Amino acid sequence: MNAVMVSELIEKTSSFSIQQTFEFLAAMFPGKISFSTSFGMEDQVITDMIFSKNLPITLFTLDTGRHFEETYKVHNRTLAQYDKKIQVYHPNQEKIEHLLTNKGTFSFYESPENRKECCHIRKVEPLGRALKGVDIWITGLRKSQSDNRENLDKFVYDSSNQLIKYNPLLDWSLEQLKDYIKDNHVPYNILHDKGFASIGCAPCTRAIEPGQDLRAGRWWWESNSAQECGLHDSSNDKA
Ligand code: ADX
Ligand code: SF4
Repeated sequence: MNAVMVSELIEKTSSFSIQQTFEFLAAMFPGKISFSTSFGMEDQVITDMIFSKNLPITLFTLDTGRHFEETYKVHNRTLAQYDKKIQVYHPNQEKIEHLLTNKGTFSFYESPENRKECCHIRKVEPLGRALKGVDIWITGLRKSQSDNRENLDKFVYDSSNQLIKYNPLLDWSLEQLKDYIKDNHVPYNILHDKGFASIGCAPCTRAIEPGQDLRAGRWWWESNSAQECGLHDSSNDKA
């Protein structure tokens, strides 16, 4: 996997639909293509595209242990609707026990360093395990989610994970997502109907006001943060 392959993939798939691109990638990288889902709207659309066509793409989720009840419910509804497997990754038990023993259950509110520490233990480290041996990582990132996602590309070389990342819904609008979900009867997180646009861990996510940035409800108490948790460190991405 290298940065040169990115331009080749962009060229080869330029006239393909998302579905055709998935099929092309699955054939080109058999057993080495994975999609990460947090059960948000974007992820549910991608899940439907993969599961409804029986594509040989692995789905995985990072269960931080702090998700909303509603998120666990949509996880369950998704399993029931498609009758497929989603691989679950949990944080390293020793690291979590050490964190909770030394800093308690809400250390992330105390400082940006503590917040990043928790995100690292609950998300970034398990992600590294989930992406072991993976060549293509599919995500639900979209440009209009926030200003700092505006400059993302559909295919990027992710040097921290040493793979190619594919963001198929990058240019989709919120309306397109909602239409797809409605038209295809895709299960979705009911928190989206209660003002939650981007949904992460329960203690770190709240609803947004109309007109606010879609990610404004994530780590809202960190006024100066870039509102990212380290899963998508674009400083290591190259188009
Ligand atoms: S985050 O970095 O702030 O958490 P966000 O919630 O916007 O990311 O989701 C962007 C994409 O990252 C999702 O479409 C999904 O591919 C991936 N992702 C985020 N959280 C998880 C999770 N808990 N498990 C698996 N994938 C996730
Ligand atoms: Fe921890 Fe909050 Fe990050 Fe979840 S979002 S891993 S609870 S700091």
